[in-house]
Amino acid sequence: MVDIKLNILDVCSSTNDIAFKAALKGEVEGNSYLAHMQTKGRGRNHHKWTSIRGNLFLSTILKPKKDKSFWHQLSVLVGFSIIEVLIDLGVNNDLIELKWPNDVLVDGKKISGVLLESSEKFIIVGIGLNILKIPNLETKWATTKLNDHVRRSFTIEDISLKILNKIFGNYLSWEKIGFNLYKKNINEYISYINHKIIIKVNSNSVPLEGIFLGLGDNGGLKIKTNSKITEHFSLDSFSFV
Ligand code: BTN
Repeated sequence: MVDIKLNILDVCSSTNDIAFKAALKGEVEGNSYLAHMQTKGRGRNHHKWTSIRGNLFLSTILKPKKDKSFWHQLSVLVGFSIIEVLIDLGVNNDLIELKWPNDVLVDGKKISGVLLESSEKFIIVGIGLNILKIPNLETKWATTKLNDHVRRSFTIEDISLKILNKIFGNYLSWEKIGFNLYKKNINEYISYINHKIIIKVNSNSVPLEGIFLGLGDNGGLKIKTNSKITEHFSLDSFSFV
């Protein structure tokens, strides 16, 4: 069992910064930080994460016992945990998708994003979920918010605790049993399976075209190019045709 402790802040720079500093000071797994606003919210690939009051900004500390080479699997596992919570809250299951590695979409529009930041000994999981507001800055993706998809209203604290309970439940099973327990279930939500995909393995490589086969055994992108099937965990870029 992990003891979940939710610390609530009004404003901070980024809950990931708060959690990272706390973990460096020795705070234990399960310590979590929720802010009502962030002044320097950030997303993956150095994007800004617009952090307006009314939405959820949450970070937690994990200290996996599993070898570091498996940690990347937590990325999709956290995305999947958010999906499970959205379903519990009443979002229509048929409208939900997981865009690898962990963008959660409802009706084709992004509702939640996850930023993992790790050190030698711990990993910080940062979650942004649009609840009341749609960021009005230009974003690459169309965005949506929870309140457009559920009838009842929930407090941000309630939703945070539901997310944390789901993440830690899945995390403990992942530590005990492994990613394979989740692969099939997660693949049901993964977008663009069987679509053409173009990938660049690193910035200097020639773009490769293949067919996206969903998540592989290790949680990476499984791609068929010519007659070869490969699994990729980090790519310079990928796009679907
Ligand atoms: C993404 O989709 O690019 C990931 C967005 C992650 C945003 C969350 S909000 C809470 C935590 N604090 C941050 O600064 N970022 C993450």
